Amino acid sequence: MAYDQQMSEIRIAAFAGSLRRLSFNRGLLRASQELCPSGMAIEIVDLDGLPVYNMDLESDLPPAVRQFKDRISSADGILIATPEHNHSFPGVLKNAIDWASRPYNDRSLDHKAVILQSASTGYMGGIRAQIQLRPVLAYFEMKQMQFPEVVVGNAKQKFDESSNLVDSESRDRIVKQLEKFKLFIKSFSE
Ligand SMILES: Cc1cc2nc3c(=O)[nH]c(=O)nc-3n(C[C@H](O)[C@H](O)[C@H](O)COP(=O)(O)O)c2cc1C
Repeated sequence: MAYDQQMSEIRIAAFAGSLRRLSFNRGLLRASQELCPSGMAIEIVDLDGLPVYNMDLESDLPPAVRQFKDRISSADGILIATPEHNHSFPGVLKNAIDWASRPYNDRSLDHKAVILQSASTGYMGGIRAQIQLRPVLAYFEMKQMQFPEVVVGNAKQKFDESSNLVDSESRDRIVKQLEKFKLFIKSFSE
């Protein structure tokens, strides 16, 4: 559903490329929920139940895949938080994106507005994963907002023991990113 001026809320579907219970990237999504501006709601979509992609399953999509695709399709914008695995984004995330792209006549990410976040225990904060992810999203002609970048390095110092984001500078960047994303999405509906 596209955003229009009658709608009270912009709906964002958010997912993280980590299944880890205490994932820092899932922590970024929770922080985004807390910090999201008025007029915007962020729904976190878990990737836990998604099977490994298999074309044989496309003729009768597994319920978890159908649910994932529906939640993405009905959103006005997408937020992806990605870990960095071996200088790229993780297979968990690629698997979810591959499911979102199939079957070919039911592509769930096409033309959606999108923002990225990343957290890593390394000092580069997962920026290489974001850079590798962007060309994949461009293939779906997604509208990618580039700045402000949310890149949280040395994550062990920025999150508490429950993987909640406590670093004030990172929280401020999320606020700025989400406020701009709201305007970014509106700009496509005018
Ligand atoms: C297979 C694997 C590869 C990794 N490669 C990188 C890397 O290239 N760069 C980096 O900054 N961190 C790397 N890390 C560390 C991750 O940034 C760290 O595990 C992070 O906490 C993962 O995100 P999560 O907390 O959301 O699960 C790697 C971790 C794993 C498990």
